[in-house]
Amino acid sequence: MCGIVGYVGRRDCAPILMEGLARVEYRGYDSAGLAVAAPRGGLRVVKRAGRLARLHDALPRRLAGRAGIAHTRWATHGEPTDANAHPHTDASGRIAVVHNGIVENVSELRAELEADGVALAGETDTECLAHLIARAAGPGTALEDAVRAVLARVEGTYGVAVLDAEHPDRLVVARNGSPVILGVGEREMLVASDVAALVRHTRQVAHLDDGELAVVEAGGFRTLALDATPTSKRPFDITWSIEQFDKDGHEHFMRKEILEQPEALERALRGRLDDRFATAVLGGVELTARDVLGIRRVKLLGCGSAYYAALAGAQVIESLARTPADAEPASEFRYRDPVIERDALYVAVSQSGETLDTLVAVQEVKRRGGRVLGVVNVVGSTIARECEGVYLHAGPEISVASTKVFTSMLASLGLLALYLARVRDLGPADGARVVAGLRALPEQVAAVLEGEDAIRAVAERVAAHDSAFFIGRHRGYPVALEGAQKLKEVSYVHAEAYPASELKHGPLALVSPDLPVVAVLPDDPLLDKNLSFVQQVRARRGPLIAVTQPGGEAAHHAAAATGEGLFDEVLTVPACEPELAPVLLTVPLQLLAYHAAVALDRDADQPRNLAKSVTVE
Ligand code: AGP
Repeated sequence: MCGIVGYVGRRDCAPILMEGLARVEYRGYDSAGLAVAAPRGGLRVVKRAGRLARLHDALPRRLAGRAGIAHTRWATHGEPTDANAHPHTDASGRIAVVHNGIVENVSELRAELEADGVALAGETDTECLAHLIARAAGPGTALEDAVRAVLARVEGTYGVAVLDAEHPDRLVVARNGSPVILGVGEREMLVASDVAALVRHTRQVAHLDDGELAVVEAGGFRTLALDATPTSKRPFDITWSIEQFDKDGHEHFMRKEILEQPEALERALRGRLDDRFATAVLGGVELTARDVLGIRRVKLLGCGSAYYAALAGAQVIESLARTPADAEPASEFRYRDPVIERDALYVAVSQSGETLDTLVAVQEVKRRGGRVLGVVNVVGSTIARECEGVYLHAGPEISVASTKVFTSMLASLGLLALYLARVRDLGPADGARVVAGLRALPEQVAAVLEGEDAIRAVAERVAAHDSAFFIGRHRGYPVALEGAQKLKEVSYVHAEAYPASELKHGPLALVSPDLPVVAVLPDDPLLDKNLSFVQQVRARRGPLIAVTQPGGEAAHHAAAATGEGLFDEVLTVPACEPELAPVLLTVPLQLLAYHAAVALDRDADQPRNLAKSVTVE
């Protein structure tokens, strides 16, 4: 949620920290701050509520210092104010701490400090850590030992970085539930909650594990467990380049990432389609044919859009592999004491690979002996390291709203379905049909993107309303959910999704000329039935927008030829293999949401109250 950046090395760190904060601002952006170890001793701390620009304006002209930590915040404890912004310091100003996560036993720790006469300056949970570490870092106690001692008492989650005025040559960082990544440079080290803040300086990174600390100095780092046992950690090279983190002339990352989908899909499919056996090749999946034959059910887990992708994935797996498959929000799954089935395959779907609810669900399944595959975008992320699996290769996704990763998830789950199906009952001819369908996706998505102008016009009309419905059934339903999610997330137009057939059981009461209804209508055997559902909306004079394929468009024109067309607007995507239709049908809805946001003057990349990577409950 929050973004952390730290530096220790041969250069003045303030500009490096500020640039790093700009790269992770999407993780949180209600306040920001930094602490720098001043060359003549002491720490200089500057922090401001509001966007990073406010911190920038508040910085002194000269802010020298070769070690520092910085933070951009998404408030959990306490309002976004200057006082609650990180870094937090102890009363003497010796220790500064930045923290991502939640200290759950904060009341107990605050009470203890207050009983000791410590005056707390703000309302955050993090401030306690600074006071406690300062207290523990008495004479003769190494900083890392003080940090260890305090963290051993913390209940909750953290990614933390600590700077000590008395040891300005080092940072101590630690993680439990919130990512901390070390970047190894030339006589300098960086730390960050996200590789985005590191790539300008180094490609060599190492991820801390939960329960691990690192002492980071200009010349390198060493890692240890909370009980002081040394751990070993080998850095690896990341392949993402700095250009992928730039807007490249676009006004928003969201639009850039929507337009990048053809290449993202190419990468997701590259080297994974096997024409000879009409199947998929999934390097990271270690399931043998015998394992696959033993699978009695597939359970997919994810949150938000990743959950909607999981719903669509479950449909493809069930229909191709003829194995019962379903999806559940990981956040619900982890708390309902689920039965873990030995002959089930669990699949965790996540862009960041850091979403706490998904991660804990994965750990719970593994702890109880279940087998989990990860379908993850960020290489080396925690979920990716927890399980065997499939990387999405979509490239970095910066916009809070997931777009290119969502369609890459659908394509990758299609690959997984094909792989499972070809070991089970799917014949080679059907396998070849799906292989060809997958291969065609990048070009077909490019064709959908060419219709952006028409979609923008529809978006501007939708933006004039306060609410919208999205309806779909079977394969159209996860797409409707995702369409509604995108619209509300970035434009703040209230949007709900329903299975089309559920409308008449309640929501139809709201349909009126002031409520646009977006009907997702794949060209499949349910099309005729779906077209009759939309008549119920038509009868209530709800403005109707169809996102459909050639069959739906033809039905509209046929109706128009004999009187009134079925829809007010028709957005048509190419025909494709029915299992893959959600990929194409989603793209117009992404553009619809984006252009509605622009029409309403919203910041599509940084929607209010939301953060890219949700590493808290
Ligand atoms: C998508 O637009 C959302 N911002 C959000 O629902 C996201 O998909 C969800 O938080 C899961 O994130 P993950 O894929 O990184 O696990």
